[in-house]
Amino acid sequence: MKYSFRFSQTKHLLLVSVLFALSGCFDSSDMTDQKTEQAVTELSAPTATNLDMNIYKSPTCGCCGDWVTHVSQAGFVTRSYDINNLTQLKAEKGLKPEYRSCHTAVSKEGYIFEGHVPAKFIQQFLAEQPEGALGLSVPGMPVGSPGMEMGDRYDSYNVLQINLDGTAQIYAHVQGNH
Ligand code: CU
Ligand code: CU
Repeated sequence: MKYSFRFSQTKHLLLVSVLFALSGCFDSSDMTDQKTEQAVTELSAPTATNLDMNIYKSPTCGCCGDWVTHVSQAGFVTRSYDINNLTQLKAEKGLKPEYRSCHTAVSKEGYIFEGHVPAKFIQQFLAEQPEGALGLSVPGMPVGSPGMEMGDRYDSYNVLQINLDGTAQIYAHVQGNH
């Protein structure tokens, strides 16, 4: 009996490993490691600014990677972390479900930038640092927002300022083309 129990455990472990390999988890974490090393090199350079953020996303999120490229091109020094329990992280940061999107970025100052927020609004927000603010969010994933480009289609959407007391207000409106 003891022998057969061990055997089935081994089979189970094998199955889990195969599933991991199939889901591509190993590949994407390799890529993240490379990005992390690059970011650390940039950070130690004398030109490093306080435009510095950590981005938490799921390993399989393509639009998240495209948003990271967008903010990097705008001058942010980024470090991406692939994590599996994003919901828990968002809850810990005080982000209500209605303000959530795919990835969560956290600035050096501790501000939250949730979802596909255009870099220019993040720069404006960090320059202003409004009193009582937790950060900015673009809930959902509007087509045409940075990292969500789909041809010529641009949806209208609001960038929300999320406050520490749980309220939110419109920080900026982005006009679409339809
Ligand atoms: Cu997304
Ligand atoms: Cu994302």
